[in-house]
Amino acid sequence: MLTDIVLNQEEILHWLRESDPEHLRELWQWADSVRRQCVGDAVHLRGLVEISSHCRRACGYCGLRAANTSLSRYRLGRQEILATARQAAQLGYGTLVMQGGEDLGVGADWLAEIIAAIKQEFSLAVTLSLGERSLDEYRVWKQAGADRVLLRFETSDQGLYGLIHPSLNGEQSNRIDMLGQLRDIGYEIGSGVMVGIPGQTYQCLAADIELFADLDLDMIGIGPFIAHPATPLGAENWSRYLAGGEQVPNSELMTYKVVALARLFCPQANIPATTALATINKQSGRELGLCRGANVIMPNLTPPQYRTLYDIYPNKACANETAEQCGQHLRDRLRAMRRTVGQGPGGRMRPPHNQAASA
Ligand code: 5AD
Repeated sequence: MLTDIVLNQEEILHWLRESDPEHLRELWQWADSVRRQCVGDAVHLRGLVEISSHCRRACGYCGLRAANTSLSRYRLGRQEILATARQAAQLGYGTLVMQGGEDLGVGADWLAEIIAAIKQEFSLAVTLSLGERSLDEYRVWKQAGADRVLLRFETSDQGLYGLIHPSLNGEQSNRIDMLGQLRDIGYEIGSGVMVGIPGQTYQCLAADIELFADLDLDMIGIGPFIAHPATPLGAENWSRYLAGGEQVPNSELMTYKVVALARLFCPQANIPATTALATINKQSGRELGLCRGANVIMPNLTPPQYRTLYDIYPNKACANETAEQCGQHLRDRLRAMRRTVGQGPGGRMRPPHNQAASA
């Protein structure tokens, strides 16, 4: 079967280094047919609300890092979050993704009450993307009705991870372990990487893709690293980081390759054409992602006055569109691509023989 083909590390590396458009067309077609066969033509729309731009971390890549004092910070109120949930439901989205910096001002009980209110009033799946909060907090949110968690491991190279994601109070984080614990709590789990992080080698990117499969991820987010001038990794001329052609470029093409390979390795996963991809190609990044393995789009529902403050990287796509414009625009584009809009929560599909096990 199309989906039983497994690539070894050599073959992954071969595709990551391939530059001939004719050959790459084979990869795009392969990923697209696995996508169609395993998750169908429906594109699930997840409404994204960026609930807080406060962050206690010092990540070397992210504009929300605590040390960036040039940024004014915001945290949405309960009513503002509930209003975006209503909007998500009205626009026909099946999921609300609440994303934020690692902000202890987002209290566990406060957020649990909001999650419960959303679950009671709307028929929406709730996804959390709030960084490394404690397992107890994640348990409280699960109890309140949250369905999924997104936590990118960013890179499987622990040395590089330690450099770009400094420990907090001397406690080195382990997002990979945490993903397993979140699954045990009952969440669908999503993770992913940035493509072209300064210091990322081809070998390590190939290992990232294999790790997607080992973790049996339900969702995989892949976007290009975008240099932010107010961060250590954005301020430097990082092309000097790796010599000898070992540095993975943070290019659009490389990102599509990783999306396509992620689809081959995780045929049933939900894979978005990410906002970062749309940012480096505003014209057609999303469409091309959807034709090369992706099956999810995350339209931004953050109230417009806060959009530019959620400054993880510069020139974010959709920063100036209203939720309605963004939603309608996407629907028009999907229709033109002969893809349908996913109905319902759009959770991870599992092949029939696994359904009993996951019930
Ligand atoms: N470029 C691209 N992606 C970034 N992220 C954070 N900063 C950047 C950047 N400069 C991504 C990280 C994070 C997700 C929410 O946004 O992968 O997990």
